[in-house]
Amino acid sequence: MSFDVRPCGNLDEYGHALASIGQYFGHELNREREERFSRMLPVERMHAAWDDGRIVGGAGAFPFQLSVPGGTLACAGTTVVGVAPTHRRRGVLRAMMRAHLDDAHERGEPLAALWASEETIYGRFGYGRAAFAGEVNVPKEYVDYAAPTERAGTVRIVERDEALETFPSLWEALARVRPGVFIRSPDWWELRTLDDPPERRQGGGPKRFALLEVDGAPAAYAIYRHQMDWEDGVSTGKVVVQEAVAGQAPALAELWRYLLDIDWVATITTWLVPPDHPLFFVLAQTRRTRYRLGDGLWVRLVDVGAALAGRSYPQDGEVVFEVRDAFCPWNEGRWRLAGGEASRTDAEADIALDAGALGAAYLGGIRFAQLAQGGAVQELKPGAIERADGIFRHGLHPWCPEIF
Ligand SMILES: CC(C)(COP(=O)(O)OP(=O)(O)OC[C@H]1O[C@@H](n2cnc3c(N)ncnc32)[C@H](O)[C@@H]1OP(=O)(O)O)[C@@H](O)C(=O)NCCC(=O)NCCS
Repeated sequence: MSFDVRPCGNLDEYGHALASIGQYFGHELNREREERFSRMLPVERMHAAWDDGRIVGGAGAFPFQLSVPGGTLACAGTTVVGVAPTHRRRGVLRAMMRAHLDDAHERGEPLAALWASEETIYGRFGYGRAAFAGEVNVPKEYVDYAAPTERAGTVRIVERDEALETFPSLWEALARVRPGVFIRSPDWWELRTLDDPPERRQGGGPKRFALLEVDGAPAAYAIYRHQMDWEDGVSTGKVVVQEAVAGQAPALAELWRYLLDIDWVATITTWLVPPDHPLFFVLAQTRRTRYRLGDGLWVRLVDVGAALAGRSYPQDGEVVFEVRDAFCPWNEGRWRLAGGEASRTDAEADIALDAGALGAAYLGGIRFAQLAQGGAVQELKPGAIERADGIFRHGLHPWCPEIF
């Protein structure tokens, strides 16, 4: 069955397309919320699928820059994907992904990226799991660091306006050292990150904005809230950390000292934490964090040539990929990466793989050798995987601290 999929033409269509996913969250149409959301996800970047004059699905693309090794690249942030339960498993998602990736390609966005609601959905469309991330729950009795650290700097609780002024540059400092960070627009900061309507607090208190300053300069920030509870006169409450961000590890560890020391709570919780987060290297008892690892950001190379040429590489070298890409056939074929330049080639391939596997390895967090463990990468010449891993390696694991 084929469905007519096209970009939304107005806010009315936009609202109905958003409702395709919104219904699963129990949302109702809400014009004010849709208008606000359209300041981050423009109306024309929301595709709607139509059947018999009604919208039965929606899929959006945040037009942002994503940090990659050595800089940032234009990326379609695949989001708010949903299909009406009346139309499930009839090809609506497939038709929307077709329009979504064709659109990103025409716009010259080399990448698309997403957070998956389920790991089984997006591989078929060429997205690969490019990062791991997980939840951390530190019980109050296990907050000690392994080595006594000298306290550096001071933490201040700031108001929203000061947060708006100081936090974005720290987020961007993180983007300079970690791949996988999307650059937030001023609207995103104001309407999403710092916004705190009481109806979305889920029983928690208001967002607190904490700023660590070292030598008088902003060095790290956290957004958190208290979720208090008591049992038998003892606190079972939590400090829930929405995000704690810094460009430099020592500042992040210092900020976490503050968060872990807050009195009157039983647990300090956060999520989307990469496996090489500084916490795991300062806490005395890492086991006690009950770290639960899952998939983080998924990456799709919309344009293999532009994506490969658009990141930097820690070492020179040459590798020829035989890329299979049934969903975006313009990427199919042999690509030679040499000296940071990517070009089509007739040379014999070193490695054969699907576009999804190349997307997984792209940010440097997942190695070709790891992908080969699951059969996703075939080494056609001995030593090619090790060489490719040397070229693609990145010092720090990708980290996207927000689900978009
Ligand atoms: C997930 C969802 C968008 C799928 O839409 P759909 O229109 O039913 O999907 P399609 O019929 O186009 O299916 C395309 C392919 O994906 C597969 N697929 C779809 N949903 C899947 C799921 N949840 N798990 C595994 N496979 C899935 C289909 O079996 C089909 O496989 P094929 O290529 O082998 O034929 C829809 O079920 C939905 O809205 N779910 C709730 C919200 C959600 O999870 N959104 C995704 C947010 S990231």
